[in-house]
Amino acid sequence: MRKFGYKTRSMAVKGKKLLEVEQLEVVFNTRDGEVKAVNKLDFSMQSGETLAIVGESGSGKSQTALAIMKLLAANGKTRGAARFYGRNLLEMTATEINEVRGEHIAMIFQDPTSSLNPYMTIEEQMLEVLMRHRKMSRKDARLRVLEMLTQVDIPDPERRIRQYPHEYSGGMQQRVLIAMGLLCQPELLIADEPTTALDVTVQDQIKRLMRELKEKFNTSILLITHDLGVVAGLADKVLVMYAGQLVESAPVDEIFYRPRHPYTAALLKAVPRLDQVGDYDMHPIPGNPPNLLKLPKGCAFRNRCEMAFDACAQMPEVREVAPGHKLRCFLDGGALK
Ligand SMILES: Nc1ncnc2c1ncn2[C@@H]1O[C@H](COP(=O)(O)OP(=O)(O)O)[C@@H](O)[C@H]1O
Ligand code: SF4
Ligand SMILES: [Mg+2]
Repeated sequence: MRKFGYKTRSMAVKGKKLLEVEQLEVVFNTRDGEVKAVNKLDFSMQSGETLAIVGESGSGKSQTALAIMKLLAANGKTRGAARFYGRNLLEMTATEINEVRGEHIAMIFQDPTSSLNPYMTIEEQMLEVLMRHRKMSRKDARLRVLEMLTQVDIPDPERRIRQYPHEYSGGMQQRVLIAMGLLCQPELLIADEPTTALDVTVQDQIKRLMRELKEKFNTSILLITHDLGVVAGLADKVLVMYAGQLVESAPVDEIFYRPRHPYTAALLKAVPRLDQVGDYDMHPIPGNPPNLLKLPKGCAFRNRCEMAFDACAQMPEVREVAPGHKLRCFLDGGALK
């Protein structure tokens, strides 16, 4: 039995509330004042579900994930709650959260190189995970590692397992990290820009792999990306963030076919169309996100919004405009596409 009460893996039944984030705030103390990187964020995930958090660079996506894992920089603090199967991760002791991180929630990052130890073979790094967290024998752990490398399509794992990270390409390193993250069969995989550092063909392979693993192991995925294009075919729900706040969240098809927030609509226009090869017609969003130290009063998107009107000088509250569809905007909500 686990120390802090996640008794069995059978808890990971499809449809059960896996993660509930309530009024999450991340505040950093800086020389210039307080920076609110995440502002009263609410979302939830069911077991087996994939939620994508999307937004431009600096919108608070990574800090949301780091806060949940209690991995914020020393000048950061959190408010609110992040309940994993009902237990608030933010209130856990170091020992408790370490156990969650090793066994129940795994995280992979944008840059695979910096997540692997350059001085250890892939075998040593992967065996360590199982021998430490699962107390497995070396022999059993090795079998499991080879099986997992096969699952992520590493060819000739018996030979490659003895190599060092620099002998792998970036795409292969990301496969190793996904395999390593899944070794202890976590209920939740947090993937922060997992394909951003890779070239387009490798991006597609990693996306396909994540989709397959999600089906095979029923792993829930919290996918963080600045690129809405990555989300299609992988996410069930999408949450769009702007300047630390939720601006829209909905099932993936609603976001793609019936976006209601002007920012979501602008992000969609910025995605290169799959059917266009070569010089495609991309529309980057004009202007920049606001400075978090000097947030303007009212809607944070106001200075870039083509639809802004007088009321937008006040901050719109989040409201539910259709079942499971939340919106922070005064427009009364016809689809914008
Ligand atoms: N250690 C820190 N000290 C002060 N501000 C920080 C710190 N880390 C992050 N931030 C602020 O948090 C904002 C959101 O960051 P982040 O979550 O990393 O954005 P992204 O959506 O690109 O992942 C950044 O724009 C930055 O202003
Ligand atoms: S509240 Fe106003 S400024 Fe903000 S997104 Fe909606 S229309 Fe644009
Ligand atoms: Mg980030």
